[in-house]
Amino acid sequence: MKDKTLLMIPGPTPVPENVLLAMAKSPVPHRSSEFSAIFDEVNEDLKWLFQTKNDVFIFASSGTGAMDAALSNLLNPGDKVLSLVIGNFGERWAKIAESHGAIAERMTVPYGEVINPADLEKRLNEDVNKEIKIVTMTHSETSTGAVNDVKTLCEIIKKHGALSVVDGVTSVGAMDIKPDLWGIDVLVSGSQKGFMIPPGLAFLTADEKAFEVHKQCKYPGFYFNWSSYKKSLAQHTTPYTPAVNLIIALHTALKMLKREGLENIFARHRSNAILLRNSLRNMGLKLFVDDDKKASYAVTSVYPPEGVSVGDIRNSLKNDYDIIVANGQNDLKDKIFRIGTLGFVSERDILTVVSALNAAINKLKR
Ligand SMILES: Cc1ncc(COP(=O)(O)O)c(C=O)c1O
Repeated sequence: MKDKTLLMIPGPTPVPENVLLAMAKSPVPHRSSEFSAIFDEVNEDLKWLFQTKNDVFIFASSGTGAMDAALSNLLNPGDKVLSLVIGNFGERWAKIAESHGAIAERMTVPYGEVINPADLEKRLNEDVNKEIKIVTMTHSETSTGAVNDVKTLCEIIKKHGALSVVDGVTSVGAMDIKPDLWGIDVLVSGSQKGFMIPPGLAFLTADEKAFEVHKQCKYPGFYFNWSSYKKSLAQHTTPYTPAVNLIIALHTALKMLKREGLENIFARHRSNAILLRNSLRNMGLKLFVDDDKKASYAVTSVYPPEGVSVGDIRNSLKNDYDIIVANGQNDLKDKIFRIGTLGFVSERDILTVVSALNAAINKLKR
């Protein structure tokens, strides 16, 4: 049966009916008290979801826009950035830094692995002249399904004095991440992930230390300039026309998330990911990140069984069961497939994808 699609990719994620209905209205004028009232509530609820007392800026862009906004507001040409690379999205930070004229040094591990805190500590101890201005990292690396120990890494960065800039695109709203407590200076995310709304919004929160560095940035750009968003936020609005209907969707989604509660949200993601991982192992499948302690709860990467291709599995899931799972990216294309479990995903969805995958593999092996 068509039109019963189950999206099990790591974004865009499924959107609840309540949220879709909230969006399906004429746009509210953005310079109105009606919009400002909604916007104020969204901003308060975003601080709750991001576990921060600082402002959370909302950009009309995808997650990469917020990544760009993070570095464009901090860097001057020639600045040195250390990028911790455990997958494609970690590499993206280095490329963005270079696009702003910075010098990016990569600390890379084999994909599927995570950064060893001792290696970071050693590298930063070597930086006696404090040349490294920013350390970038990915929390949940969507291209592999591995998760960095952001808390420990940020403690080490804090001791050195550099700024930590963290990609929480597939972790905020799915896995515990505490910028204020863990000393994350800049944290970004995107709407089509744990936020249960469609693509189109990106989020950024920055602490006081990051704002001090921002003040020294000579060319922060125009559209994503933090200072403009901060100034407008104090006036209950945005500097430019916001994606009004997406913000209204977010308003509804955040209320749903608040009713569930942060601890329950994280517990749901954890138990769904563990159920999926154990079910895949019981089917004899090999996980790309085998160590549960290094695994993201947002996405699980799986090797296909002997004699069955990733393409066949994805096609069978799509054509026979209307379930979409993702291919691997770049070098991992056609080597692994990825199952997303973040956002509006329940235990029933996990059981459905596991049964369908089992049936698909049995058919393909015949
Ligand atoms: C960890 C991570 N970072 C960054 C991005 C980029 O986000 P977008 O595609 O919304 O620009 C993604 C998208 O999948 C992601 O998973």
